[in-house]
Amino acid sequence: SPLHPLLVSLPKCEHHLHLEGCLTPDLLFALSAQNQIPLPSPSTDPAFASPATLAARYTVFTSLDDFLHYYYIGFRVLVTPADFEALAWSYFLHAHTNANVRHAEVFFDPQAHTSRAIPLSTVIAGFSAAAARAQTELGMSSILIPCLLRHLPVADSAATYSALVAGDYFASGVLGGLGLCSSELAQPPQLWAPIFADANARGIRRTVHAGEEGPPAYVAAALDHLAAMRIDHGVRAAEDTELLARLAADGVMLSLCPVSNAALRVTRSVADAPVRALLAHGVKFSVNSDDPAYFGAWIQDVYCAVQDAFALTADEWAGIARVAVQGSWCGEERKGEMM
Ligand code: HPA
Ligand code: ZN
Repeated sequence: SPLHPLLVSLPKCEHHLHLEGCLTPDLLFALSAQNQIPLPSPSTDPAFASPATLAARYTVFTSLDDFLHYYYIGFRVLVTPADFEALAWSYFLHAHTNANVRHAEVFFDPQAHTSRAIPLSTVIAGFSAAAARAQTELGMSSILIPCLLRHLPVADSAATYSALVAGDYFASGVLGGLGLCSSELAQPPQLWAPIFADANARGIRRTVHAGEEGPPAYVAAALDHLAAMRIDHGVRAAEDTELLARLAADGVMLSLCPVSNAALRVTRSVADAPVRALLAHGVKFSVNSDDPAYFGAWIQDVYCAVQDAFALTADEWAGIARVAVQGSWCGEERKGEMM
């Protein structure tokens, strides 16, 4: 499309990006060697023969859980604060340089680190050092959002959430919100209601992965029971017209990831993303990359893929960019700078 150069340089806000999803096969193998953490043997999974074979395996994910299997193996090689800082810095630098991302709200999964005896303080020190450097050196603002993991018992989420509160990470502003992610189908949102009610009472912002593999009812449950202020993915909300009307009336933004959805077979292709339905119903959405190192597409590639599928006008893109700024969780002053 002739709009590609404009889409690459368009100032962007990213709202759905997992920092651990920025771990490329090259960095995975390098950190495995550096930290002497073995990867699965190629005799048990031939994908681990080399970075190239692993990247090839990433192109044929069959489901969210097939992806999550590889995603959580990747976590193993992250050990020191410097590892976490390098990973996050690689994202911030890439997003600034190649996509003109001005503001990024980024996820990480504390439980998948603490379960390997990596302290919360190690993870957060590394990520927040990279965020501070992105602000100073790139003028890029960011918000760090820990996600609780649905595939683990709720009690494990509760313990992690309590440790984050006790560590003063939310009240001090080091962390700017609370998320919920991982396998969706067998774990309805309401199981996390007590934790999210406590977060709400403390003024901690809340966002929830819902309606990716799960039904529209899980999106409604995230709003009803978790007081979610944003819905991550939410693609399947398009199946329910009443839900679309509710999202529009309440101004709830969906953080769409159309390339991720196609990669994980949530949709058949980017063209199946509910872009037209959301525009028609006045539902706010932003366009995001999710796990760029695993899906082979960074945010500028996702913008271009959406354009190839929907042939939007420059005015429609300007509207999408404006909604992304307005739906961000930065202060009004920062939004003003980005409008
Ligand atoms: N869905 C759920 N959990 C995740 C995802 C996702 O798309 N990416 C990383 N963790
Ligand atoms: Zn995600």
